[in-house]
Amino acid sequence: MADPTGDNSAKNYHLDRPPVNEGFYVKGAAHLDWGMKNRLARIFRPGSGRTVMLAFDHGYIMGPTAGLERLDLNIPPLIEHVDVLMATRGALKSSIPPTQPKAVCLRINYDATVLFDDLSQGGGIACDIVNAVRMNAGALAVQTFVGAPGEKNSLELLARTVDAGADHGLPTLGVVAVGKNLLRDEKFFLLATRLLAETGAQIVKSYYCPGFERVAAACPVPIVIAGGKKVPENEALGLCHRAVSEGAAGVDMGRNIFQSENPLAMVQAVAKVVHENFTAKEAFQFYQDLAAGGKKRGRKS
Ligand code: R5P
Repeated sequence: MADPTGDNSAKNYHLDRPPVNEGFYVKGAAHLDWGMKNRLARIFRPGSGRTVMLAFDHGYIMGPTAGLERLDLNIPPLIEHVDVLMATRGALKSSIPPTQPKAVCLRINYDATVLFDDLSQGGGIACDIVNAVRMNAGALAVQTFVGAPGEKNSLELLARTVDAGADHGLPTLGVVAVGKNLLRDEKFFLLATRLLAETGAQIVKSYYCPGFERVAAACPVPIVIAGGKKVPENEALGLCHRAVSEGAAGVDMGRNIFQSENPLAMVQAVAKVVHENFTAKEAFQFYQDLAAGGKKRGRKS
């Protein structure tokens, strides 16, 4: 049996060697079947191997947060600039045109809401596999609470979702939750991301941290990073750049896009970093130029 306290001597992450892909460009996916690969190829662009997921599932925990007061107005203009929409079925069905062409990563669990002091107790299934398939989901997303009261429940939910997804060829995105009482350091993310991948998630969503290079190297499937709380645009673009430079396969970003002063410019700047390797400085300049152009166009002569 493994030492339950973990092997603290783990140190050789072979950072100089790319992942062994055996013929399919998405990390860890070489042995998956055709349908699963086809869905992954709609998530991770074949050209860059990366993705820009737009996360707007925040309402299922916190209600109409800033920037998401009107899903029907806030989200549609951003769609053409992202690869994937990550949302709940209620948000999609009520507010997003079914004619939109991008892949959908469907949030299929519910959790405690902001009305509770501790959100990390976990929840249950908010949408079953039949309804996810009916909605043409391209992936399923489940939040997990490693090291928190909801750990057992949420890992079980993840495992059941991975099984149901596999039956229908849908990959599962395992989401690493961070909460008031959860750590946000390399040691925690090394453990949590690996745990989710070994539970079967084909994609893991986590957070950037110092030492991220090792976190990404040790996770056998792609990691996409969340943006977290809104920070100034240049900082958010810096975070994206550091993450993809250190091995993230893209972002699953919400507040730093839809709470930006100019969400349309910001989403395009993020895509430049993710898909075209723009530096943070280049991307921020791009953002400013677009935002200024938008202002000019909006002015009445
Ligand atoms: C987490 O599971 C949330 O529901 C969001 O999807 C996630 O936090 C990403 O959004 P943000 O970039 O705003 O942190």
